[in-house]
Amino acid sequence: MRKNIVAGNWKMNLDMNESHKLVQNILDNLIAVKTEVIIAPAFIHLNKIKELVSNTNIHVAAQDCSANNMGAFTGEVSAKMISSYNIDYVIIGHSERRLNFNESNELLLTKINQALKYKLDIIFCCGENIDHRQKGSYFELIEKQLSETVFRLSSKEISNITIAYEPIWAIGTGQTASVDQAQEMHSFIRNLFERKYGFKISNNISILYGGSCNSSNSKDLFSCEDVDGGLIGGASLKFDDFVKIINSF
Ligand code: PGA
Repeated sequence: MRKNIVAGNWKMNLDMNESHKLVQNILDNLIAVKTEVIIAPAFIHLNKIKELVSNTNIHVAAQDCSANNMGAFTGEVSAKMISSYNIDYVIIGHSERRLNFNESNELLLTKINQALKYKLDIIFCCGENIDHRQKGSYFELIEKQLSETVFRLSSKEISNITIAYEPIWAIGTGQTASVDQAQEMHSFIRNLFERKYGFKISNNISILYGGSCNSSNSKDLFSCEDVDGGLIGGASLKFDDFVKIINSF
């Protein structure tokens, strides 16, 4: 079922006390929300935050998982470990992972398969850099990112996927994609899903926008026909902004 989702990607921010305080503030200020809310803290906070939101309908996501099942991979965290804490989601393919940790589409597909094996739902990120945007090759790039990863999945497996379109030039820059740019790409992505899996699946998939989405532009972005919510970085670290974004639907 296509859902409206607002997910907060905390990245490598907030220590223990700060993370607990932020969750508490979000809980204290959220009332009767129909949107699905997801919080993605650093690995070390996952278990505690899962506990803090246990009596609510807020979901928790890991920001990444290992491509390996288990073994001698110092510092890595497996999908099996994440799943054993009843964490619901994992983000895979964030551009910061692709760029800073050289994660290729091939590696990301391995991570996706690990996550699926342990029944995690996946927020899969795609997005072009400024060069692709300026040269006009952004559609080809996004199609390649999806063809080599999620489009390898069966119709059954694809139901565990949420897409986040995050143009790299908009992430953390304050330069949000315009409503037209967002809608154009989201509709392109939905059409790719339709071509590959048919109308029903393409109509059911949630496609989130990410990249300097904040409480001033979320309402406009979320009103686009094919934008089903947002993956929020900076603005998810301030509870009042995050709550306003959640209430933008
Ligand atoms: P931003 O980050 O909202 O700070 O631009 C979004 C993201 O990277 O997921």
